[in-house]
Amino acid sequence: MPDTAAKAQARTLPDAQTILSVRHWTDKLFSFRCTRPRSLRFRSGEFVMLGLLDERGKPLLRAYSIASPNWDDELEFYSIKVPDGPLTSKLQHVRPGDEIILRPKPVGTLVHDALLPGKRLWFLSTGTGIAPFASLVRDPETYEKYEQVILMHTCREKAELDYGRELVENLRDDPLIGEMVEGKLFYYPTTTREPSERMGRVTDNLTSGKVFEDLGLEGPMNPARDRAMVCGSLAFNLDVKAILEGWGLREGANSDPAEYVVEKAFVGEGI
Ligand code: FAD
Ligand code: A2P
Repeated sequence: MPDTAAKAQARTLPDAQTILSVRHWTDKLFSFRCTRPRSLRFRSGEFVMLGLLDERGKPLLRAYSIASPNWDDELEFYSIKVPDGPLTSKLQHVRPGDEIILRPKPVGTLVHDALLPGKRLWFLSTGTGIAPFASLVRDPETYEKYEQVILMHTCREKAELDYGRELVENLRDDPLIGEMVEGKLFYYPTTTREPSERMGRVTDNLTSGKVFEDLGLEGPMNPARDRAMVCGSLAFNLDVKAILEGWGLREGANSDPAEYVVEKAFVGEGI
């Protein structure tokens, strides 16, 4: 949390936003909601720069996927807590009423515009990589554009899946898109280290055909039917890319839509 002086300074910045609520999911993960700048228009799946003032009063900003959909009056973010992380060692202590800095310039490749029309949309994620998909699974456009939407999320332990699990449960009761989601959204959470109902890496469950079997979907993916969005560590993204390319899907971009898109959930050490 910024000290009193830093908070006072944040208030004078045009990009200051107020924290509305905070939820701690594990000792490494938390989510928070804050006010949305009036000027902020974004496409579900995009990210912004946000942060706090440092000790010298300078903005310390990091990239964050917007986890809330574009129709929401508030903004939601899902964050890691890096023990010695310059930003998150402080950001994890924010409380309702505190101010953060948020630059209202959204960008990113995990957007519908970067994909050609298709029948099935796959969201493939690990860890906090679920954040952009938390936005997209709550966006009616997702269900208008696709017949089936599959959210795969893998973490080491069960508690790390709770944010996504609750999100999907709440979606089914949502007055706005509860009906649209019915029968269309498939959720496939897995753990890799702690035993749970469903286990295994996204990559292994795709290549073995297990996810298709478990969900009763025809596999493997093909470029005529399937579209995918990928968000995880660099190693994860590279491994998933190789699988998708092997099935004939090509990487798209805002300027050149194709069959799949990728974004890093974070920039790893030494990369
Ligand atoms: P940093 O100095 O930024 O990171 C220190 C180290 O911690 C990194 O080298 C890496 O090894 C590890 N690390 C950083 N972020 C993560 C993470 N998310 N998961 C696992 N390990 C990590 N982070 C989020 O928590 N939520 C988001 O929605 C999110 N969206 C991002 C979108 C993009 C496009 C990019 C590039 C990054 C995103 N990040 C997100 C990462 C975020 O920008 C910061 O790295 C993170 O908040 C940690 O900041 P820090 O200053 O505490 O530590
Ligand atoms: P695993 O436990 O088998 O390493 P991390 O915390 O290291 O970022 O990993 C988050 C999740 O992503 C873990 O479940 C981890 O599985 C999985 N994972 C890490 N690297 C890859 C990869 N290259 N391909 C597929 N899954 C991965």
